[in-house]
Amino acid sequence: MQCVKKITSDLVWVGANDRRLAMFEGVYSVPNGVSYNSYLLTDEKTVLFDTVDKAVQGRFLENVAEALKGQPLDYLVIQHMEPDHSAGLTELLLRYPGVKIVCTARTQAMIKQFFDLDIDALVVNEGDTLNTGKHTLHFMTAPMVHWPEVMVTYDSTDKILFSADAFGSFGALNGAMFADEVNFDKDYMDETRRYYANIVGKYGTQVQSLLDKASALTINMICPLHGFVWRNNLPSILTKYSLWSRYQPEEHGVMIAYASVYGNTENAAEILSSRLREKRIKTVMYDVSVTPASEIIAAAFRWSHLVFASTTYNAGIFVSMEALLSDLAAHNIQNRTVAFIENGSWAATSGGLMRKKLEQCKNLRILNQTVSITSSLKSSQLAKIDAMAAAIKTDFPDMMLMMQTMPGAAASVDPLAMFKLSYGLFVLTAKEGTKDNGCIVNVAVQITESPLRISVAVNKANLTYEMIRKSGDLNLSILTESTPFRLIEQFGFHSGRDTDKFAECGYDCRTINGLRYVPEHTNSVISGKVIDVYDYGTHSVFTADAVETVMLSSEPSLTYQFYLDHIKPKPQPAKEGKKGFVCKICGYVYEGETLPADFICPWCKHGAKDFEPR
Ligand code: FEO
Repeated sequence: MQCVKKITSDLVWVGANDRRLAMFEGVYSVPNGVSYNSYLLTDEKTVLFDTVDKAVQGRFLENVAEALKGQPLDYLVIQHMEPDHSAGLTELLLRYPGVKIVCTARTQAMIKQFFDLDIDALVVNEGDTLNTGKHTLHFMTAPMVHWPEVMVTYDSTDKILFSADAFGSFGALNGAMFADEVNFDKDYMDETRRYYANIVGKYGTQVQSLLDKASALTINMICPLHGFVWRNNLPSILTKYSLWSRYQPEEHGVMIAYASVYGNTENAAEILSSRLREKRIKTVMYDVSVTPASEIIAAAFRWSHLVFASTTYNAGIFVSMEALLSDLAAHNIQNRTVAFIENGSWAATSGGLMRKKLEQCKNLRILNQTVSITSSLKSSQLAKIDAMAAAIKTDFPDMMLMMQTMPGAAASVDPLAMFKLSYGLFVLTAKEGTKDNGCIVNVAVQITESPLRISVAVNKANLTYEMIRKSGDLNLSILTESTPFRLIEQFGFHSGRDTDKFAECGYDCRTINGLRYVPEHTNSVISGKVIDVYDYGTHSVFTADAVETVMLSSEPSLTYQFYLDHIKPKPQPAKEGKKGFVCKICGYVYEGETLPADFICPWCKHGAKDFEPR
């Protein structure tokens, strides 16, 4: 049964996923599978962009037939001849013998090499175009991204870049098609980096050439041959490609990779990592005999400083470390600061040999503080570890250090410091069935411009929180400085479980998602579709894409400070002889000699710690 995905009104994904493959290209583990993307453009002429791997060609052919809907297949654009994208070619030609292949001369030669076929192709060169009716396709060569015959295609009508291997990722698509349908940074960025570093990492200069060509285009969408289609937030992936292709680190920190037979080399590496952490420098550690090399190579593309620690083995570098360093040099790692720790029970040679292996790489700054240990690190050698840590620390300006409390330091935490943060005040509304509800929140921020995306923190005890969890929809009414205290009371000091917060309202204003909003003392409303939820104990943070916004007035937004200074009722003096405690949050007064430790403010639900004697 076919499984196609609509990309645009004229473009359909007809690829397939493979979750049974253990090793991509026979060398890269793909625990999350891999997608082989193929796209069908339907116009006056139909165009298929690439085919798929042999393992999934049955599903692919079903998909192509479905997407064609009886139209003939006019063109097959072959952008890349690696068999994970071209293996379906011969079967496709049998089923669609009239199809015209569009490719570079190098691709035509490779078709002969792989399939022993003499193809009468439409051979295209840099800048050639093909008009298919409504669409015009522009062909651009991209040699060595990832093979020499590679080209990419730009559809200037819909402004789509078909990018071949560029911007691809490991990982099956799992029903999603677009990068903005998933939490890409959290769940897919590591596999995208691993794909880049290992598949095209060696060819940074060529990737830069492709980025230069792309920068001259208006691109609304990127369709790669693996992984998700990009239709939003394109700068995020383009920026990563710019960094990776220039071999610039993404983060300041130290990647420590070690090869240890009996744990003594590991021990030295761990002590170094500990010393660096004490200097507030981020570290990651990998045992090269356990972690696949492709992950460590990806990490080397991520971090600014690299430390390699290896025991000496058969008078050389330990086997797994030797393989890693060869691989790293082959992937052209550059622009890093590197240090070594060697171990040897009778003749430690691994340090010098590791250095020799990496000296061929460009712009590596190799620290002279190599630590050499004999069987195990001795306390007399700790100074050498410290010297290496100190040498690394000189590269870390204070602003690049982790903000963390130093172990052993007498840290003080004054919660009142939090009051110095600026907050707003908002009515967050939601709906479940016929029940409308809302609550006051003070943390809501815009986090990205493209797409328009906000995050809102909500107390999990609130009914509004439960409603948003179920529906995935929310409205945020941004209150203004004219807000009366009664509106804060209405939404903030009661529970929607036992009251209808809208009962007294003389309005029933709703956005297109059906949710109510507060039209009075509000300057704008943002309707959000939740894309992610993070749980932080008492509160959760919803991240939502803005699906509708309503501007209501130009009044200034209400800040929490303005509320404290001008709206919140001032505590009343205690009645003669009566003691009491005032809630610092909402002003509620508890009368009594002592405040129970488990007291909860009936208005704002804050605990006893937020009360002060009046
Ligand atoms: Fe996905 Fe270079 O092939």
